[in-house]
Amino acid sequence: MSDHRVCVSDYEEEAKKSLPKAVYDYYRSGADQQQTLADNTAAFNRWCLRPRVLRDVSVVDLSCSILGQDLSMPLCAAATAMQRMAHADGETATARACKQAHIGMMLSSWATSTIEEVSLASEGGVLWLQLYIYKDRELTLALVRRAEEAGYKAIFVTVDTPYLGKRWDDVRNRFKLPSHLSMSNFSTESLAFSEGNYGNDSGLAVYVARAIDPTLSWDDITWLKKQTRLPVVVKGILTGEDAKQAVSHGVDGILVSNHGGRQLDGVSATLDALEEVVHAVQGRCEVYLDGGVRRGTDILKALALGAKTVFVGRPVLWGLACQGEMGVTQVLTLLKEELRLAMALAGWPSVMAKNTNTTFDTDVAGN
Ligand SMILES: Cc1cc2nc3c(=O)[nH]c(=O)nc-3n(C[C@H](O)[C@H](O)[C@H](O)COP(=O)(O)O)c2cc1C
Repeated sequence: MSDHRVCVSDYEEEAKKSLPKAVYDYYRSGADQQQTLADNTAAFNRWCLRPRVLRDVSVVDLSCSILGQDLSMPLCAAATAMQRMAHADGETATARACKQAHIGMMLSSWATSTIEEVSLASEGGVLWLQLYIYKDRELTLALVRRAEEAGYKAIFVTVDTPYLGKRWDDVRNRFKLPSHLSMSNFSTESLAFSEGNYGNDSGLAVYVARAIDPTLSWDDITWLKKQTRLPVVVKGILTGEDAKQAVSHGVDGILVSNHGGRQLDGVSATLDALEEVVHAVQGRCEVYLDGGVRRGTDILKALALGAKTVFVGRPVLWGLACQGEMGVTQVLTLLKEELRLAMALAGWPSVMAKNTNTTFDTDVAGN
């Protein structure tokens, strides 16, 4: 671990100093007034852990299983677009760090490295493809096929982005990719977001309005399920009603997410939505959470409220910006050690026991 950075926010502070302003703003921002962005982290402070003592925590087992894949801990990397703006190695560095940590990585459709490059870098690690459904369905299916062929283990389809949320800084900065980069999974300039006229707006917002399909409905989840043998997870569910719909459409998992506060501002923090979703699902598929996870105790609270794993978005970007693959490894190690300590102090010897043993079911309380 790094000797001068002791928590995730130290990585953010350092990343802020080294990244170009428009890049830092793009990574950091939420939508509109950023109420949900702030609440994602604040929600973790509204819950208290209820520690149990005298439970022999000399060995704490963090291992878990997600969609049938054994992982070293219930913390994975969320899809974040355009990682080569943070470091020249971009997504390939993240993939190597995740493989080394034995955790899953969700690759963005909008990566600046190809599906195949990331698979090669990951050398058999657990990869999942985050999918945006384009107006052009052949193009969408081509991404799915490439993921299948490259050994990805699931498709996380993002359902909260029919249009891009309004991120004020990106509008002010007229956000575009730097000219030497492109969304590498696409071959035409307009789809690769590499060139073009985006007017006086966030270039990405214009890109989404042009390319991403806003007509999506639950029928498209049925369609996607029919197109692939891979498990399908819906990313961006915040209510029990939609969780039930997802289950009835046969999904394999639900990621409780508000896109890191970047889409609809004013929705609940993901931690506050988690219980409702877990309750609605009744164990019929796996439930995960992302948004605002910055400490080991945050992970523990999400697990206690029923998430099978959490994902982190920005913390990985901060690690990448500080020191490439090594920086991501440091952030993952930091969170792992924080989780291990939190579990020991709270009297949880094992993540798996939490998932199967109801004696752990009163480990957090709202305040
Ligand atoms: C810079 C950035 C880019 C993102 N890109 C994508 C993306 O391409 N696809 C997607 O489904 N979600 C994307 N997300 C949302 C993340 O997958 C995740 O939901 C969110 O970052 C979790 O919140 P956290 O950053 O507080 O951990 C992005 C988030 C950030 C911060």
